[in-house]
Amino acid sequence: MNSPFFDAYEVLQKVYRDGTYLQEEMKTVTNKRVTKLVYGVLDKHYELSFVVDSLAERGVKNALRPLLYEAIYAIKYLSTPKNVVLNEIGETLDVLGKSALKSFFSAIVNRVAGGEYPLPKKSDKHYEEVKYNMPSFLVGLYKKDYPDTYEEILSARKNERVHVRVGKNGTEEELFAADPTAERTKVGFFVKNNREISLLNFFGKVTYMSYTSALSAESIVRSATRGARTLDCCAAPGGKSVYLAERGLSVVSCDVHPHRVGLIRSYASRMGVDLSAKVADATVFCEEWADAFDVVYADVPCSGMGVIGRRKDVVFNKTYEDILALSDLQKKIVNNVSSYVRPGGLLVYSTCTVFSLENGKVVDAFLDAHPDFSLERIPLEEKNDGKIQFLPDGRKDGFFLCMMRRKS
Ligand SMILES: C[S@@+](CC[C@H](N)C(=O)[O-])C[C@H]1O[C@@H](n2cnc3c(N)ncnc32)[C@H](O)[C@@H]1O
Repeated sequence: MNSPFFDAYEVLQKVYRDGTYLQEEMKTVTNKRVTKLVYGVLDKHYELSFVVDSLAERGVKNALRPLLYEAIYAIKYLSTPKNVVLNEIGETLDVLGKSALKSFFSAIVNRVAGGEYPLPKKSDKHYEEVKYNMPSFLVGLYKKDYPDTYEEILSARKNERVHVRVGKNGTEEELFAADPTAERTKVGFFVKNNREISLLNFFGKVTYMSYTSALSAESIVRSATRGARTLDCCAAPGGKSVYLAERGLSVVSCDVHPHRVGLIRSYASRMGVDLSAKVADATVFCEEWADAFDVVYADVPCSGMGVIGRRKDVVFNKTYEDILALSDLQKKIVNNVSSYVRPGGLLVYSTCTVFSLENGKVVDAFLDAHPDFSLERIPLEEKNDGKIQFLPDGRKDGFFLCMMRRKS
């Protein structure tokens, strides 16, 4: 069916119901209206959900909520004429075999178009959920870790520019031809994400790599010697592995998911660098790697709260138990892969999140249990004693980086 509402509905259903990655789902979407609807609805999810619950007294089944969110979003934020919304929603309901619900949907759309748009008062338990567009337990974690600055951190979620770096097959001239307004950073450029940039990325001349990810890889390059045997144990899709290999480190790049190891291989080949990509579970000890690496990098799976400006799906389907389970997995990974660091070698831990449960507490527990490792100053301009917590600021992502050295 050729309808932006229907196509957006399909993407939203997958994100909400199946928890699939938004980035993956959006790869095949080319229609701008579908993109606007999907991102717009996710950006206002808790607000739209509150409006639906307030206007539909008898409730709405989960399967149909995304369609109602789209309709309300289109009226309120895209100024789409009511009759256009009603037509498209009607067609989508026909395809879904839910034609009987047309009058119910019309009633809600009419009320919103007529100016009814209930929002929670400050005293309402949903107030902060709606204000920050995330479950209240997540707001609670921000408050706990950043009691004085959480509002500022939570408001800095819009990234107008993307960060890229030039690969060995590309040149800065090509980058500036694609975006004359490119702004240089220590490790790349902030650019407008236009078609020319995405073509340079497609041809492996330039690559998208967040500023903080590039900085973390750069800190390893500054700490290691050329040819250093390096294990990147949670490596897919390969951003940091490729950076390290490009700068002369000898990289073994692993991930637990075979299809994601495929992503590392194709990314390395697109960027024209050599590395060895393997399937390996970082929680399971591998005898042949004991004491074998000069550098072990654990860029562990995490809640991704440092990248919610770009990854609008990370806040959904999350519970506090998920964060605790991640923290346990992170501890398991760092404990296991630390045994692959040779005496005198480096262990680097990072996440793209901001919670102490996944950052400081994980490395502190590790250091307490492993007196043969100690914090090592990270060779970056940022003041640090071996740990840096970057906070999102509208450009930079939230990112945690920790460097440790094993005693000789
Ligand atoms: C934060 S991402 C890594 C991003 C990557 N370093 C980059 O820069 O492109 C974490 C990765 O860890 C992988 N992962 C999760 N559990 C793992 C495990 N037990 N062993 C190895 N990799 C794992 C995930 O599949 C995911 O690709």
